[in-house]
Amino acid sequence: MAVPENFDLAHMGAIELRTPKFEESLRFFRDVCAMREVARIGDSAYLRCWDEYQLYSLKLTAFDTNGAGRTLYRASSQDALERRVAAIERTGLGHGWRDPEVGVGRSYEFEDPDGHLMALYYDTEHYVPDDEDRPALKNQASAFPGRGINARRLDHINYLASDVNASGEFWRDVMMARESERVRLDDGRYGAWWFRFHQKSYDVVYSDDWTGERGRFHHFAFAPDSRDDILRAADICLENGIHIEYGPYKHAINQTFFLYVWEPGGNRIEFANAQARLIMDPDSPVVEWSQAERARGQAWGMKTVPTFHTHGTPYVADQEEVDRRAMAGH
Ligand SMILES: [Fe+2]
Repeated sequence: MAVPENFDLAHMGAIELRTPKFEESLRFFRDVCAMREVARIGDSAYLRCWDEYQLYSLKLTAFDTNGAGRTLYRASSQDALERRVAAIERTGLGHGWRDPEVGVGRSYEFEDPDGHLMALYYDTEHYVPDDEDRPALKNQASAFPGRGINARRLDHINYLASDVNASGEFWRDVMMARESERVRLDDGRYGAWWFRFHQKSYDVVYSDDWTGERGRFHHFAFAPDSRDDILRAADICLENGIHIEYGPYKHAINQTFFLYVWEPGGNRIEFANAQARLIMDPDSPVVEWSQAERARGQAWGMKTVPTFHTHGTPYVADQEEVDRRAMAGH
């Protein structure tokens, strides 16, 4: 049964990423991905992709560990924000209103059932290009950088979860996101669950954390323009010593073309071609894949990399060993 159309959520607005290797991570996002630093406050750099209308999408913070801080989601209007906040408050997962900060107005902070920290906001600061990055066309946020991977915009996020069902039910019933696809395991639980806000086939994903930890980060994705850009991204990462975990290849589920890398701080970052497949049918039913169908691998048959359900951030105490055992098939 499809969830009735609801457009209260506009898109994922920004994320805070923590890194124990701040300078190396900054170099990755600024020079390899071609983001622009727009603010530096305390231990955090604020960065943006070239076609994002808002001030920033990534808050990169020097920290003892890796992992994600808060994810910000933009509501579609003030009314939509208040509707969703009222629904979150009824669950007891709300933390309360927060004062305006860099780039965004008042926000409402909460956590999902797995403990991932999030906030909803509506008021935002629009980016104003300067002489260095003024675009030729007025329907573009800033100039095309023409260097590195040319990441155009932040696209989606995937959270690892100790209980995919609990967080998925929260996004379906409280946030009113629409399900697009999911994997049902043989024991009845969901191994992964994809949600969309509009016609793009996903914005938020939850994946089973085989370490059993709560609240870890799996990856976020940037959208370059094309499949060709993602193939080129693999060459650029190779030349820059960035660890390539998986791809370039095509997903079976939701059919995005992808590349997964680990940035220098150990956080997984994806480059995904998300605009190829849109869901136009307002009554589109959720597409469910069985454990056996999932085990067949990605679109053209390559198996899912074994670290996909073990490597997450912040690292567990024996993360390297856990990843090594996964790669060895244990
Ligand atoms: Fe992804």
